[in-house]
Amino acid sequence: MTIRFILNGEDMEINAEANQRLIGILRDRLGLTASKSGCLNGSCGACSVIFNGAVSPSCLIPAFRLQGSEVITLEGFSQTIEYQDIAAGFASAGVESCGYCDAGKILATELLLGYNLQPGRDEFAAAFRGIRCRCTNGENLYQGVLSAGEMRQRRIYGRSL
Ligand code: FES
Ligand code: FES
Repeated sequence: MTIRFILNGEDMEINAEANQRLIGILRDRLGLTASKSGCLNGSCGACSVIFNGAVSPSCLIPAFRLQGSEVITLEGFSQTIEYQDIAAGFASAGVESCGYCDAGKILATELLLGYNLQPGRDEFAAAFRGIRCRCTNGENLYQGVLSAGEMRQRRIYGRSL
C-alpha cells in the first residue's frame, strides 16, 4: 500500500506492507538507525519515536497506522534547540549514553518537560514507564531530567524558576 505521512517535518511517501513495523521501515528502508531494535514487543523503549505527539514504541506501529500521521525520530529531534537542553542536562548530571536507549530516554524527557520543567518523581516514573536503560540507574536519570529542565529554564527565562 502507498503510505503518506510526515517524518521529521518532511512529507514522506512509501510503499509498504500494511503490517510492516515502523521500526523496520525506519532502520532498514530509510537508514534512520537512532531507534534501536530491541525487544520488539513494546517493553524496552529502545525503538521509541514521537508518533502523533506521544512517545510510542515504533515496533508496535504497523505501516497502515502511519497514514496521515506525524513521526519524529531522534534524528529529527536532535536538530532542535530543545535537544541541546537535554544533551547539556544529561551531560551535567553524568547520565550515561551507550546509544541503545537514547531514543526512548531523550524523547520521553522532551515530552515530560513539555508538561513540567520541574517534574516530580511520580511524573518521571510515569513518563519513563516503558523505557529500559541498562547503563543508568533511575535516580541518575531523574537528576538528568531535572538538569535538562534547568537548562531549558535558563535558556527561555534567563534564570531558574
Ligand atoms: S524494540 Fe520496541 S519497545 Fe523494545
Ligand atoms: S545508556 Fe545504555 S542502555 Fe541506556
